[in-house]
Amino acid sequence: MSLRAWFPTFIYCERLQQTGLERLNVELADECRRLRDFDRAGRRWCETNYPGGYTSYASMNELHRFSSTFAELEKKLNRHLRAFARALDFNLGGRPLQLTDLWVNIMPPTAAHSLHLHPLSCISGTYYVATPAGCPGLKFEDPRLDRFMAAPPRRTGARRENQTHITYPAEAGNVVLFESWVRHEVPPNRVAEERISVSFNYHWA
Ligand code: NI
Repeated sequence: MSLRAWFPTFIYCERLQQTGLERLNVELADECRRLRDFDRAGRRWCETNYPGGYTSYASMNELHRFSSTFAELEKKLNRHLRAFARALDFNLGGRPLQLTDLWVNIMPPTAAHSLHLHPLSCISGTYYVATPAGCPGLKFEDPRLDRFMAAPPRRTGARRENQTHITYPAEAGNVVLFESWVRHEVPPNRVAEERISVSFNYHWA
């Protein structure tokens, strides 16, 4: 049988860098927590929009412009963005992908982030800062799911490219990139420690 998979959805996952991640993550975690202490407007926004957790998404979402720690992170992320864009065969016409938003997420026990996508962006992603054992991963949904109509469900143990969902475990030091139209979610955190990540959007104009 001649069988080929077409129209794949690529997801990128790499270590941010080969060495020095521990020191960087201690520094980032510290800055994320200080930001939460400082950002009263953000905490208030989270009371209704991010119950139990803290995100600077609505209050301080250009952190790479205001903090040298996050500006340094941007430089490291740019290298991965270029690699991902090459793998996707993007023809960028000489106009680079640009980081437009970068924000912090802190998820204590029970906090979750329901299914969503990132409108007005091209590539989105997350860098994991603190990931206590057993904390939730990043769950992606097959972007064609709403077209499946009367298609039968997939067998348990179906090969990976036939599965309708895939979860990337959250691992401190990893950067995960995906096209911004791929829907994803973070299930509730069921462990006692905080899960900390930095999310971002790249725009092409
Ligand atoms: Ni997201």
